Amino acid sequence: MLASKRILLIIGGGIAAFKSLDLIRRLRERGAEVTPVLTRAGEEFVTPLSVSALAGKRVFRDLFDLTDEAEMGHIELSRSADLVVVAPATADLMAKMAQGHADDLASTLLLATDTPVMVAPAMNVRMWEHPATQRNIATLKADGIAFAGPNEGDMACGEHGPGRMAEPLEIVTAVDAALASGPLAGKRILVTSGPTHEPIDPVRYIANRSSGSQGTAIARALNSLGAEVVFVTGPADVPPPQGVETVPVETAQQMLEAVQAALPVDAAIFAAAVADWRVASASTSKMKKTKGGLPSLEFAENPDILATVSQLDHGRPGLVVGFAAETDDVVENATAKRKRKGCDWIVANDVSHGTGIMGGKENDITLITENGAEDWPRMSKDDVANRLAERIAQSLI
Ligand code: C5P
Repeated sequence: MLASKRILLIIGGGIAAFKSLDLIRRLRERGAEVTPVLTRAGEEFVTPLSVSALAGKRVFRDLFDLTDEAEMGHIELSRSADLVVVAPATADLMAKMAQGHADDLASTLLLATDTPVMVAPAMNVRMWEHPATQRNIATLKADGIAFAGPNEGDMACGEHGPGRMAEPLEIVTAVDAALASGPLAGKRILVTSGPTHEPIDPVRYIANRSSGSQGTAIARALNSLGAEVVFVTGPADVPPPQGVETVPVETAQQMLEAVQAALPVDAAIFAAAVADWRVASASTSKMKKTKGGLPSLEFAENPDILATVSQLDHGRPGLVVGFAAETDDVVENATAKRKRKGCDWIVANDVSHGTGIMGGKENDITLITENGAEDWPRMSKDDVANRLAERIAQSLI
């Protein structure tokens, strides 16, 4: 999603500036072009050499650097990006932005730019909570400045609270969402994927053969149509898609909690193969072979995440899509499942032995909606994902 996007990255003077080096790397990994600007105070924390080495281009530092002006004026520099990102955005830099100061290169660029601006604040908790900073934040928000973070946590100064700069990958996700274009831009969509692992003891678990490839392809397809995707995944065989917020979980219970934490969303796609049962009381130490005979496992039912979200009275996503992996009477069973769970659509597939669908590259699905069953031709999981994402986009418009 960030391929060939141009980011003007202003690095302010805070200890979190070291994270901006990683941010440059993460943005460039995703194909973005990063033009770095380092404030005087920023230079106290990271060197121009390390910034330019990671960015793969020169770092701009001084408003009155005539060489810079000869090559590219500050006005042109401020407008040559798709997004201006300030990370770390110090209390001082934010105050300057709120007041419209232009007394160094960074503040001048921020005043001159006509492209969207995102700040990733980083400061001591008292400075963050100070009424002056809060006033500045309100002003900046009213001016249309986007915020990534800050997070709450331990700080370099030894205090605890809000003010920690968001992690580089969180900023990348926010940048991705800010630059999103496409029919799903501005929509937040949850996708569950992969199997769950239900522990028997610390070394053994119950699992299933889901590879996570269909859910991953769906998350990628939704993201490429501009959606902000929250991807809650069990331990899958395939890596999660880039540019989406990934929440790794192991058990069904953890998946439910991650799903609830991700709400509200515009749509939720439940592609995970969630274990129906867990071991009622998993052993905290490894179970030993005993002469006394075989162990017996007692099972408890797992929460049905799809049904729980489908039947929410408040905050139900506008569109809820479930999956049905069936081996017999696919359409009948999936149609009944749609009713029973209370979801809007069911993507049904025949996973009986010999279809090669579970863990394979292709899928053969029937989409069940309120209008009945729609048989799709057998196609790759990527094509199923793209077609489903298009359908989701049409239904959310
Ligand atoms: O009931 P069954 O497992 O066949 O339903 C499949 C659908 O329900 C899938 O969309 C799956 O992600 C979801 N599911 C769930 N929580 C469970 C079991 C299934 O969300 N505990």
